[in-house]
Amino acid sequence: MNSPQTIQVNTGVPYAISIGSGLLDQAGERLKPVLPRATRLFVVTDSNVGARYADRLLNSLTTAGFLVHCHTVPAGESTKCPARLTELWEAMMAFGLTRTDGVVALGGGVVGDLAGFAAATILRGVDFIQIPTTLLAQVDSSVGGKVAIDLDHGKNLAGTFWHPRAVLMDPAVLDTLPLPVFMEGMAEVVKYGCIFDRDFFDFLVKRPSRRELMADIEHILYTCCELKRRVVEQDERDTGVRMLLNFGHTLGHAYELAGHYTEWSHGAAVAAGMCAAAQVGMGLGLTPPEAVEAVMEAVAALGLPTAIPCSLEEYAAAIGLDKKGVGTDISLIVLEDIGHAMAYKMPKDKLLAQLEALCGK
Ligand code: GLY
Repeated sequence: MNSPQTIQVNTGVPYAISIGSGLLDQAGERLKPVLPRATRLFVVTDSNVGARYADRLLNSLTTAGFLVHCHTVPAGESTKCPARLTELWEAMMAFGLTRTDGVVALGGGVVGDLAGFAAATILRGVDFIQIPTTLLAQVDSSVGGKVAIDLDHGKNLAGTFWHPRAVLMDPAVLDTLPLPVFMEGMAEVVKYGCIFDRDFFDFLVKRPSRRELMADIEHILYTCCELKRRVVEQDERDTGVRMLLNFGHTLGHAYELAGHYTEWSHGAAVAAGMCAAAQVGMGLGLTPPEAVEAVMEAVAALGLPTAIPCSLEEYAAAIGLDKKGVGTDISLIVLEDIGHAMAYKMPKDKLLAQLEALCGK
């Protein structure tokens, strides 16, 4: 077996992120030492990913001696719901899963979040493995232990922190992603450069095409995961520095809401949210105009939106200004420069006044 690059994440239960082409076919051998007491593995995938990659994974796991059951859920955000969670719990019990067995997520963020939450809650928690297959899941959602489902009241409202015992990332699976899905992941990649690492940001803007990015994909995955590791180790529960990862997400949430979660992908909304947050930062005198220009150029070069139509009422709803009793202050992640982010706390109506200027543009 080739040696993949690895990153050790030292959270409550430490785990390794492995990055390397061909890892999908080596999953069985690689998971044996990670799950020494497991006999059964319950694999969760979706209809798109499963059709392409489940056979290779199942083959590797059974060759290594695991008893495997593969459960396929429909692709798409609506799968992250209480009914699917119950369906997974029941299927896990029907398969005979025990507390020493494991759950494997093969897919993007939806599959990882749903399978992770099911693993965290079945039998009071069983071991969980992430095999992320989208760029977004590889650089963000598979690392850091956030698992959740959506409720009628909003996304990710029922969940917990449940760290994987291993993350296996095979960059070769990114080749089959549709271009918009690849670029959606790039929004999160660019975010790491914006908030933590100017050199990485400069490296990315020199590679605006998918072909150029894929030529350096292992370096890109490694850099993002290493930056996330540092943040997650310092702030596992997301009450401090980890919140900087929300750059672009507060206003991105407004765009997702305005588009009823169907018009804009999460990545497109985050891309426009980063541009808006940069402009708000400039309006507050915190972000230099050159940094705003750099963020907008980087986003545009990837073919992602630099702005999404959103009314003042929709912004107000997204930041909770329309609800009585919801705190009057908000922390927005803004840039002091490319590579340096800060949480800026202000009254929500002050933020809304800044956003009013964007609405007219
Ligand atoms: N996706 C942001 C975080 O993991 O904190």
